[in-house]
Parts: sequence; structure tokens; C-alpha cells
Amino acid sequence: MNLDVRKSQIVQELETLATFSDTPAPAVTRIVFSEVDRKARAWLKNLCIEAGLHVREDAVGNTFARWAGTSPELAAVGSGSHIDAIPHSGRFDGTVGVLGALEAIRVLQRGGIRPRRSIELLLFTSEEPTRFGIGCLGSRLLSGTLDLARATALRDGDGASLDQLRAAAGFSGSLDSVALPAAYYHAFVELHIEQGPLLERAGIPVGIVTAIAAPATLKFEIEGEGGHAGAVLMPDRRDAFLAAAEIALVVEAAAKGTGAIDTVGTVGICEIFPGVVNGIPSLVRILAAVRDTDLARPAAVLAVIQRRAEDIAAARRVGLRSQVLNADAPTETATLVVDALRSSADACGLPYQTMVSRAYHDSLFMARVAPTGMLFIPCRAGVSHRPDEYAAPDDLEQGIRVLAATLNRLAN
Ligand code: GLV
Ligand code: MN
Ligand code: MN
Repeated sequence: MNLDVRKSQIVQELETLATFSDTPAPAVTRIVFSEVDRKARAWLKNLCIEAGLHVREDAVGNTFARWAGTSPELAAVGSGSHIDAIPHSGRFDGTVGVLGALEAIRVLQRGGIRPRRSIELLLFTSEEPTRFGIGCLGSRLLSGTLDLARATALRDGDGASLDQLRAAAGFSGSLDSVALPAAYYHAFVELHIEQGPLLERAGIPVGIVTAIAAPATLKFEIEGEGGHAGAVLMPDRRDAFLAAAEIALVVEAAAKGTGAIDTVGTVGICEIFPGVVNGIPSLVRILAAVRDTDLARPAAVLAVIQRRAEDIAAARRVGLRSQVLNADAPTETATLVVDALRSSADACGLPYQTMVSRAYHDSLFMARVAPTGMLFIPCRAGVSHRPDEYAAPDDLEQGIRVLAATLNRLAN
């Protein structure tokens, strides 16, 4: 089979996609439903139409671009990822899986292949939690994992609701229409940069994912007492930020405390009110995320964090409200897809390594409704979520070649 990946074209398309950004190059910022996100979607849709794909969008903006197979009544084979980008990030996270799936389809078309099952590119809405505070919004809804009342109640930092924002972006209709019908996909496979250093260190071009870690997110609101940062004496203070700082250290200790390298904990958001250098913080909101590949461990870690946070709040005489925003189960990937990826890498003459994904992906939720797998390519120094994120053209080319072979295998 001739798998002719147009390397310079894919590099060029990734570069063009990166220009739809709210921050200057090389940083990419593309928040879901923003003007640049909408322009990027329109540009991408056009590429799909040029490739002869049939495009449809659901009520939350998940976008499907289908190449009809010779037996279109059969469940399709899906592939895709996301194009939203967290503030000041890079150009490869998610985009490689979207443009890579499109190029994989074009590769098969150029090779004169007519797949039996349809092959469908899927662009997920809002994999990143930036706007709504919850990651994988589109895939949660596709997999029926997100309670619709909760989805409807989602608001961004400016108070705009998901319903308002999706309508403004041109996506209307009821959210309960988003869930995929049973057995919609025969299989789903997502190409992504590794976002870690292992493939590059080992000099191996392809990673085949066997398990995807899942996140749990805890929100703490800490209420202390504001006041003059010069005049209020230290013994009299109830500083909300100092309680938050101690809670952040507890998050670190609790994650390390499992003794498992797969447990990680991060406090990535800390909002201080009133946020002035001459005022004692009276109100602080922090978001702590615990991630793990193990099903049971995170619950114990969250319980430790919550208990210790209460002790800290009591000792510092501050109010504490905590809320678990999400606590998702990790997943193993499907043998059907893993085997197809292995055979395809072999057929392409490329060595591979099996590995765990420590980042989460829409595939975490797709795995609940379809046999799902993931394919990683190396990224320089394992860097991701930064402007200097980089994947080499040769690695892109090889990843897309394996993806094309895998889609073909799964579709026939
Ligand atoms: C995905 O962006 C993640 O944070 O793992
Ligand atoms: Mn990301
Ligand atoms: Mn991603």
C-alpha cells in the first residue's frame, strides 16, 4: 500500500492553524468559541470539504467530517482530536490529531483506497478546561458522561452560559442530541504528541497507548478577613491566601504520599481577592487537580486533601468551601485498536513502544462508547502547553503514516 504523506503540506497547515490565535507567535491561545476558534473551525471545515468529506456539526460544535465507505451502513471508524489551545501554549497539542486525521484520509484517497467502513474525522469542542472549568466538554457530551443539567449550568469566567456562547458561535439545538447513538463507531483512534519525554529519549517514533490517566478537580474557596497590609498586626490576621498556600502544599504531599509515580497533583489556579499588594487577601479560590492511572487511588488522595484542608482552615480561622468538580475514571485502551496500531507500525517498518498517557484526552471519554486507542509521536524534550512545543516533520509524517494504515485496517 502506498502511504504518501505530504509532509510539507501538513507542516504548512499546522502553521496556518497556529495563526488563528489571540497571542502573537510562537504562543498560541485559542479559547473555545472565541473569534479565532470560530475562524479556525471555518478554515478547517473548508479543508474537509476540499477533501470531499461530508461535514456536520452537533449542538455543542463537535464537528464530524465523513469519508463514505463502500458499506456506509456499517459503523464508522473515527479519528480526531481538538483545536482549542490553552493560553500561551503551542501549535501541536490536539491539532496534530485533527490535521493528522485529515491527512491520513487524504493519504488513503491518494492511494486509491476505498474503505469498506466510512472513516470520520472528529473535531471535539473544548478539550481544554480553560473556558468552562471542565476538560473534554465535547467528548463528555458525546459519550453521555456529563449530566445535562450540569452542562446547561456551565458558565465562563465572565458569567456567559454555555448555551449563550454556543449559540453565538452558531451551534444551536438541544444538548441532549449530542450523545452518540449506541455502536456509532466501530473504533476510534486519536493521534497526539506525547507531551512527555519518553519517546524522544528512547529514540522511538511511535507510542501506542495502553491506558489513559484521568483527572479529578477540587475547588476550594477560602474566606478570611481583609484589611490593611501595614496596619493589621500579624497575630490578628486571618489571611485567606496563607491557608490556600498550605492547602497547595498538602496537594503536593498527598500526591507524593501514594508512593506511585502515576499519581500527580497540581494547584494551577489561585485567584486572590482583592489582589492588591497593600491589602490582606480576604477571599481566595484555588483549583487543585489530582491525576492517576489507577481507579482507586485518587479517591483516597482527595479525601486526605479535603481532611487536611479543613484542619488548616480551622487552625487559621478561615471559612472553607470545597467542591469536587470532576472525578473521572482512567481507562485502558481497546485491544482491537492496540492490535491494529501494532500491526500498522510493523507494516510501516517503525519501532514502537507501549505507554501510558499521563495527559487526559477526549479518547478517555470516547473509550466509554467505542473501542478506542491512541497513537503518540515524540515532541521535543517532552515540552507541551508551552509556546516552544515542537514536533519534527519526520515524526509527524511517520505518525500520520501509521494512523492512515490503522484507519485502513480498522475500516476493512
Ligand atoms: C490535556 O490538555 C490535559 O491537561 O491533560
Ligand atoms: Mn492540552
Ligand atoms: Mn491535547
